[in-house]
Amino acid sequence: MKPIQLFDPASSTFTYLLFDEVSRDALIIDPVDEQIERDLSELRTYGLKLLWAVETHAHADHITSAGQLAEHAGARTAAPAGCGITTAAVQIEDGDTLSFGGEEIRALHTPGHTAGSMCYLWRNHVFTGDTLLIDGCGRTDFQSGSAEALYRSITQVLFALPDATSVWPGHDYQGRTHTTLGAEKTGNARVAGKTLPEFVAIMDALHLPRPKRIDEAVPANLSSGIRHDAGGGPLLEARPVPGYAGDVSPQLAYKWWLSGEAVLIDVRSDAEREWVGFIPDALPLAWKQWPGMATNGAFDEGLRTSVPKGKKVVMLCRSGVRSIAAAKRATELGIEAYNILEGFEGDPDERAHRGRKGGWRFHGLPWRQG
Ligand SMILES: [Fe+2]
Repeated sequence: MKPIQLFDPASSTFTYLLFDEVSRDALIIDPVDEQIERDLSELRTYGLKLLWAVETHAHADHITSAGQLAEHAGARTAAPAGCGITTAAVQIEDGDTLSFGGEEIRALHTPGHTAGSMCYLWRNHVFTGDTLLIDGCGRTDFQSGSAEALYRSITQVLFALPDATSVWPGHDYQGRTHTTLGAEKTGNARVAGKTLPEFVAIMDALHLPRPKRIDEAVPANLSSGIRHDAGGGPLLEARPVPGYAGDVSPQLAYKWWLSGEAVLIDVRSDAEREWVGFIPDALPLAWKQWPGMATNGAFDEGLRTSVPKGKKVVMLCRSGVRSIAAAKRATELGIEAYNILEGFEGDPDERAHRGRKGGWRFHGLPWRQG
């Protein structure tokens, strides 16, 4: 069995799709933002259910689509614990496994390209990210990189695996697709037959240009590829509205919530919080519930018991529509209630994808996947 290897020409990045032939459960490694339509179509073509979107590290040269795949394909996001990708549902430690159907990958912590970088072993295949490339290796001169650590990771962790293990790298710039550990052990120009000081000298002498997209890509990748708002000042004051206290921007709601001025209430359904993501410590109180979206009979009681007297509430839903209904109801119950504009995910864009045009998550406010 072989992985499906996909290529993004703009960044020369390989993405890998693995699946269990019986259950059709799948796992994707290092998916690329611009290629999400291709990847969704691959899943449809093969009839796969994507369980995991996994990163080898926080990339500097492209933006991950992991957050989008969580939303559109129902995947859970997983990232190495040492990479600072705080939105990932699972923080992977060395030796951890992720299962999909009867298959699994095992994480190997291989610091060097970045301190948190990991490789993943599946059957007799290893996915090496930017740790080991074909006749090369990832750079070590930024993002917590270390040539000494990379040498140890390649020679002691990867080269300890059987020589016949297939190596599937994170990039190739010369049209090659894969190699084997045996071939790299004897032929890799940077490491084969080299001592640690020789390797460090080679890495020191590279003087590579700074990656074009690093300032954009790294911050985005630390939140599973959901981009933060670049421009447009946030609404700094509440906007009064008939029927409830007013509309507020996600940023202002966050400020009020942080200072203890307001209670943050997430009125989405349990399924939405589970699937799309939730805000740690926000009060979950559904306005409507799946299936059928019947109004939650316990909504009024939930408000009464959880909102202290005299405190205002800010209501959050998916895109700022349901939260208006909830804010109106809270107002009828005598509570100073505000609606959070744009909700958690914002309005859909021209391709009907949410999360790219506004909302709590888009603005970089805290959230994580369930
Ligand atoms: Fe990288």
